[in-house]
Amino acid sequence: MFYNVETEMQYMKNCVIHYFSGTGNTQRAAGILFEQLNKPGIGKCALNNIEQNSSVPLDSHAIHIFMFPVYAGAAPAIMVHYLMNLPSVQGGSAAIIAITGRTEHRHGDPMQALDQASRILARKGFQVQLTDAVEAVANFGQFLNPPTPEAQQQILREADARIREIAEQIRQQQTSIRISAIWIKYAAWCLWAIYTVLARRVLGKLYVADQACTGCGQCAHFCPAAAIRLFHGVPRWNFQCEGCQRCMNICPTHAIQVSFLRLFVMLMTTVLFPIAVFIHFLALHGIVLSLFFTVLTTIGVVVCADVVVFLLELIPAMRYLTTASHTRRYRRYLAPDFLKTLARTHRDSRNSLDNSSRGY
Ligand SMILES: Cc1cc2nc3c(=O)[nH]c(=O)nc-3n(C[C@H](O)[C@H](O)[C@H](O)COP(=O)(O)O)c2cc1C
Ligand code: SF4
Ligand code: SF4
Repeated sequence: MFYNVETEMQYMKNCVIHYFSGTGNTQRAAGILFEQLNKPGIGKCALNNIEQNSSVPLDSHAIHIFMFPVYAGAAPAIMVHYLMNLPSVQGGSAAIIAITGRTEHRHGDPMQALDQASRILARKGFQVQLTDAVEAVANFGQFLNPPTPEAQQQILREADARIREIAEQIRQQQTSIRISAIWIKYAAWCLWAIYTVLARRVLGKLYVADQACTGCGQCAHFCPAAAIRLFHGVPRWNFQCEGCQRCMNICPTHAIQVSFLRLFVMLMTTVLFPIAVFIHFLALHGIVLSLFFTVLTTIGVVVCADVVVFLLELIPAMRYLTTASHTRRYRRYLAPDFLKTLARTHRDSRNSLDNSSRGY
């Protein structure tokens, strides 16, 4: 069902679906859209997984469809980076589909994700004709137990049906822009700034591999942000994390947990410490100088604290403390067949990927 865009590009006439997916919901939705738009007599379509092809030539006669999961009310950094680096396509048509997360009790919300992507595409000369959101299974497994398998099936069934409706709208070239309330846009903009600059980087730093880790390296191999390195067979996370949740869900032994110790240390060093330092300096200096000192000292303290926790994690006797976690009792979630497709696409592109050069 999935084709490499480089081989498909030459046949492309009508549409290209550019997508990023952390745990497979977006990839599943992109696959269904591809099937719907790639029927004889309707049009030709190509799929571009931006994780594999970070830059493709754009055909201004095609409609370009951008699909991504919503992180903290916005588009993932990897997608923002991709959109910003697109060449200008004056008059090109675009559609944006954000994939949100739903649980048994809470609906998903794209917040400012659609506006954010629309703004970037408009600057590139695209005419955005359709923006919409589709609710799939919530995958924020670091702090939210994914829905039960029955609920997952129900949510995915509804998501699949919704994608088919959107495919019909695209086929009929309908214009449909989803508008969110103005206060949501501004609130979500602040959330995005905090998430992109700080929170997503810290999310990776919360992970620890517990005793179940076999050192297989799958987490590092499939990380889209090259945020994991194996150190003597044990995964270590750097500050490049995208927050996609793939590693903890892909681990075959469910060894990846959110460490209580790391959570405590990161909260102290990235939230409480900077607030205290800023208030302290503000009494003595102006806002600008106080901000400067706060950022500088916070970076120093975070790096030092990270090294101390890392050293503690190396001591076998401290394992009960360093791997204590709430996520051990959480379910893991990957969209059906995601692992199979991921393995194939990574194998296909292994030679052309320069993993180490990525990071957003
Ligand atoms: C860090 C993070 C933040 C998220 N923020 C939101 C959000 O603001 N709104 C929402 O509806 N879903 C949110 N989600 C849920 C995902 O967008 C949702 O599960 C999506 O379907 C995942 O798609 P994927 O499987 O293609 O990665 C978040 C997930 C993560 C990991
Ligand atoms: S995927 Fe799991 S078992 Fe394999 S190295 Fe990563 S944490 Fe360890
Ligand atoms: S470390 Fe990599 S795979 Fe894990 S959540 Fe971060 S970006 Fe995703």
